[in-house]
Amino acid sequence: MSSVRDWAAPNPVTENRGGLIGKGVDRYEGPLKVTGTAPYAYDTPAPSPPAIGVMATATIPRGRIVSADVSAAEAAPGVMLVWTHRNVPPQAPRGTRANPRSQRASNPALASDRVEYYGQPVGFVVADTFENARAAAELIVFDYAPEPAVVDFKASFGLAEQPPNEEDVRVGDFEAAFAGAPVTLDETYFSPLQNHVQMEPCATVAWWEGDKVTVHTSIQMVKGGQHALAETLAIPSEQVQLSTRYIGGGFGGKGQPYEDLVLAALAARALSRPVKVTYTRQQMFHGTIHRPAVEMRVRLGAQPDGRLTAMALEATTHCARQAIFTEHAANFARSLYAAPNRLTGHRLVKMDLPHAGPMRAPGEASGMLSLECAMDELAETLGIDPVELRIRNEPEKDPETGKPFSTRQLVRCMTEGAQRFGWARRNPVPGQVREGRWLVGMGMAAAIRGNFLLPAKAGIRIDAGGVVTVRQGMTDIGTGSYTILAQIAAETMGTRLEDVRVEIGDSDMPPAPGSGGQFGAATAGSAAFQAAMNLRAALTELAVDDPRSPLYGGPAEFVTFENGNIAIENRSESLAALVARAAPEGVYVEGAITPAADARDYSQHTYGAHFAEVGVDQVTGEVRLRRMFGVFAAGRILNAKTAKSQITGGMIWGVGTALTEVNAVDPRYGSFVAGDMAEYLVPVHADIANLDSMFLDEADDKANPMGIKGVGELGISGAGAAVANAIYNACGVRLRDYPMSPDKVLAGLLAKGM
Ligand code: MOS
Repeated sequence: MSSVRDWAAPNPVTENRGGLIGKGVDRYEGPLKVTGTAPYAYDTPAPSPPAIGVMATATIPRGRIVSADVSAAEAAPGVMLVWTHRNVPPQAPRGTRANPRSQRASNPALASDRVEYYGQPVGFVVADTFENARAAAELIVFDYAPEPAVVDFKASFGLAEQPPNEEDVRVGDFEAAFAGAPVTLDETYFSPLQNHVQMEPCATVAWWEGDKVTVHTSIQMVKGGQHALAETLAIPSEQVQLSTRYIGGGFGGKGQPYEDLVLAALAARALSRPVKVTYTRQQMFHGTIHRPAVEMRVRLGAQPDGRLTAMALEATTHCARQAIFTEHAANFARSLYAAPNRLTGHRLVKMDLPHAGPMRAPGEASGMLSLECAMDELAETLGIDPVELRIRNEPEKDPETGKPFSTRQLVRCMTEGAQRFGWARRNPVPGQVREGRWLVGMGMAAAIRGNFLLPAKAGIRIDAGGVVTVRQGMTDIGTGSYTILAQIAAETMGTRLEDVRVEIGDSDMPPAPGSGGQFGAATAGSAAFQAAMNLRAALTELAVDDPRSPLYGGPAEFVTFENGNIAIENRSESLAALVARAAPEGVYVEGAITPAADARDYSQHTYGAHFAEVGVDQVTGEVRLRRMFGVFAAGRILNAKTAKSQITGGMIWGVGTALTEVNAVDPRYGSFVAGDMAEYLVPVHADIANLDSMFLDEADDKANPMGIKGVGELGISGAGAAVANAIYNACGVRLRDYPMSPDKVLAGLLAKGM
């Protein structure tokens, strides 16, 4: 186990003599992606031409399949196989974990006559072409016995229960403090159901050699996918080779495998040839997870000077009856503001909808939409600037646990952002700034998101040509994992970036937890750093023990690695020369990272502040983003370009959350109304006029050896609330129901007689 003291000591990454850490270098795999030659799962060449599988999906939310007539499908052109629950090959029952170390349990496809949600795969066709498979899948005739289904979230609140294994968190006496507070707020906010809508749908190509199956699939967690497939097929995980080399977006929606993985593997075995299966765009909306809708009640009690005496955030959300998941929308509030009396908790409604699950910044992305608006409302009530109100409630220690913060620059994020954005020019009285028919306003919000380090391993190799190769069962979901691993390896080894190769995404590589929870860079990167440090040690030993090396005899403690050379004092040789001579077959070592022994002694988060300016069209109710700026503190930044892309991408998502993004449930079918990118509205370039961000200097030596933190989920946290607050400042309409689409804004304007 690493100790914090080790992490505070200077090391090659924190010293950064080669200057590669923090540099905005281009994406390692960028040329492959922009030329369309990166093999995504569905594009991966198989040993022989694959047959094509297409799924048929359920059209009721809950019930039983009474009959499935496959005769027309089986007789259709090019069809090789038609499966329903009647004839799908045997699989392990759902939830089986024959190997207790498996990271995911079995998840059989087409396993029973039960329908649990609209869009559930219930039939499967393999044919010679996609068109033939799709046409045949349409020909399967299912007869259902529907059962009563709970599909309306807002009508189901009465069914909400305490989530399993979870208590409300109370500090002090919230009710008494709230009742006695001179100034109070009690408001309820609603954030809607959202879909991940990754550019690349979930897809798998599979083939067998003997009893071993190879799958190329699109998944954020290598081991999770490998283990789930092995458990489902009831074979040892060593017989599953899983690769996920390029991933066209994950956002949490690919944190788990789906039916494409299982059906491709089963069909490839049954047909003794490669089979590939993709979800269609429409199937992605129902057949994979979504971010659940959340209703959030915020109660704040404050002194006239703005100091909070009582704070409560209670979130009600939903999940599928058979797939329990809690959107922890209140958790972030436990570390954000000081208030001696506190209440946070969650309620869960089980419904007959597709499965709810994690989506980028699960918890914060929804949760901050409530409290960060409530703080804006309280600021106005008190006549205190929203930035100043937050500063007055800045805690010295974690307000619930009393633990020290590892680093916390929230106040600096807000003050720096305010200054750069021109916040002082904001008129605190709403509806005062007009440009033609546009009402113009500014809003801000804070951002907080946890930081995590998980156990991980990495391998690293140097060959006789001096080329360094990192190997790790890590994924890159578009975030920049390839690139930062190359930077870490090059900087640590003192080589050029051009001399580093990165190989990730295979189940036979040293395992890393994958991409999720914004732990990816810190976790995988720290393991790669440790591997590179071990390679330095191995090469040092090789040199000082080799009479032919100018470094022979040491002293080893003075070794340096720079410019492709290994040196001791004024004696040096190139790494290539050393390896070619002393270990011509190359040197391979591994490294590992585990959380520090005292990791839990600190309250560890990333922070930020969003500032937005919008125009509200007084005639149509349309809201346009005019400017947005965010300041963030997230440890040492590994790559200025990829980190900024992550942060600004999150901010843009927050703009979409505030203005356009929603899916609605059709109560007749328990289906989602929007099923494609024409109806599911996310911002496009024309919607994002002027949006920028910056990082404060920071290094967090409690986080990991490199002092870095995650950035993938921080940018969306709080972003939508800043836009909502700007809408209020622009036109005086306070909406608490996201997204703030023109119909809602216009109704608010009309109600105010504007
Ligand atoms: Mo993330 S939503 O934890 O992949």
